[in-house]
Amino acid sequence: MAYQTLTVEIDDYVALIRLNRPEALNALNAQLVSELGNALADADQNEKVRCIVLTGSEKAFAAGADIKEMAAKSYVDVYTEDLFGADIDRITATRKPIIAAVAGYALGGGCELAMACDFIICAENAKFGQPEINLGVIAGIGGTQRLTRFVGKSKSMEMHLTGRFMDATEAERSGLVSRVVPTTKLIPEAVAAAKKISEKSQIAVLAAKEAVNRAYETTLREGILFERRSFQALFSTEDQKEGMAAFLEKREPQFRDR
Ligand code: CAA
Repeated sequence: MAYQTLTVEIDDYVALIRLNRPEALNALNAQLVSELGNALADADQNEKVRCIVLTGSEKAFAAGADIKEMAAKSYVDVYTEDLFGADIDRITATRKPIIAAVAGYALGGGCELAMACDFIICAENAKFGQPEINLGVIAGIGGTQRLTRFVGKSKSMEMHLTGRFMDATEAERSGLVSRVVPTTKLIPEAVAAAKKISEKSQIAVLAAKEAVNRAYETTLREGILFERRSFQALFSTEDQKEGMAAFLEKREPQFRDR
């Protein structure tokens, strides 16, 4: 499918989705959010895709929700159209893993979009922030909840109340990103991680993603029970037999996603 606000390349089981509104530093307008939802749903259905990398440009992953598009809207407008509601939920509904590869600005909705992915690898020039407070609003795509869970209350509160940005070093130290890489290596590193994931048993990959996400959506007791049942259920797969046999026979496993 052809998109106007993003590009999609599929190679070796990895879909690389690039946000592409350079004139607005990839600000999230209605068209981009809708096209992104469609691109992710397509990738989820596509047998040639096992893992997704979502990125922007070297200057900006995304500089937030599109302020020009939002500025004149009323409460009735944004409530009735459910601004950043259902379309954004399509991102977290994606079952295949999504790696956010963040260079440059990831601000407001851009930071929230990155956090809605499964993990973030960032470039040395990355800058994260929730500067909505400077616009007289607050985060609207999960920032107050996700950032607080990722970096703790104190840092999250400071960022939401003052609008200050966090650089890559602080983001890694605080647990917001899994690792920082040189800016020129960002895409190769993220794609290499995606390829590594695509070589695993895809049943185990889906189960791992679901189980880790439970840590954010339920109590510890419920999450551990969910993980235990998923772990036990994987013993019904051929991939579990193959993976464990391969280890014992000192060879690489040949997973068949069964
Ligand atoms: N919406 C719309 N346009 C944006 C934008 C945004 N969020 N961010 C940048 N742009 C546009 C600018 O208006 C500018 O366009 P023009 O050339 O037509 O004027 C172009 O992108 C380049 O931006 P700058 O000239 O400002 O670039 P810079 O390098 O000087 O500054 C920046 C970069 C610090 C990221 C600055 O652009 C900025 O502060 N952007 C806004 C960040 C922000 O407030 N984000 C939160 C948005 S609200 C939100 O996201 C709500 C939510 O949670 C759902």
